[in-house]
Amino acid sequence: MNLIFLGAPGAGKGTNAELIAKKYSLASISTGAILREAIKNETEMGKKAKAIIDDGKLVPDDTIIAIIKERLSNSDCEKGFILDGVPRTLVQARMIDELGIRIDKVINFEVSEDVVLERLSGRRVCADCGSTYHIKNVKSKTEGVCDRCGGRLIIRKDDQPETIKERMSVYEDMTKPLVDYYLKTGKLISINADKEIEKTSLEISVALER
Ligand code: AP5
Repeated sequence: MNLIFLGAPGAGKGTNAELIAKKYSLASISTGAILREAIKNETEMGKKAKAIIDDGKLVPDDTIIAIIKERLSNSDCEKGFILDGVPRTLVQARMIDELGIRIDKVINFEVSEDVVLERLSGRRVCADCGSTYHIKNVKSKTEGVCDRCGGRLIIRKDDQPETIKERMSVYEDMTKPLVDYYLKTGKLISINADKEIEKTSLEISVALER
């Protein structure tokens, strides 16, 4: 089963990708996480992407497609995968089709702007392993410390209020048109992602097994 998770920043794509990937033994592929890792390791790609991500803009399409092509060649994708946050432009969506990458279903996370703001302003991530928490909704056992690896929890640089605004605007202009694109293919499943994590992930599972 090959899936795309589509939705606004903070809609809960990453949180649910982790849960659904575990449940169905899929590889969870987040271009955002891959880029953040490249920035941390100061690779050439990371150096080029840093300012773009910090400003809330989109990394060039050819960089994203190169990441996806390489990542999908890993053996852990054989049983299926979730593309979390990619494609994010019509060009990326068409390139994925042209490469012959089969997509079975596209989960569209519908979420209100107030919820997005509350989720992103309260998000904390582990500086070492990238695990995601929320100061109210998904607390770590010890404040400021990652449950998984003991790393320090930090605020993502692109979760500053001004950058959130820019990311939302980029989503409206560049990514939202993909809802129509995938609606026409008959693969789109829209879910109400304003709900609690467990309820959202259950709704996705039910939709996938329908
Ligand atoms: P990326 O990391 O993909 O960011 P994003 O799409 O903006 O999505 P987020 O990670 O902000 O949110 P999410 O929907 O995964 O929510 P999460 O589960 O964390 O990309 C970052 C940047 O990289 C982009 O801006 C761009 O520059 C670049 N990039 C990446 N892919 C690209 C591409 N394809 N093309 C071009 N550029 C690209 O949840 C958010 C918070 O809410 C968390 O704290 C979580 O604990 C909490 N939460 C989640 N669900 C719930 C719930 N149901 N109830 C309560 N709290 C919840």
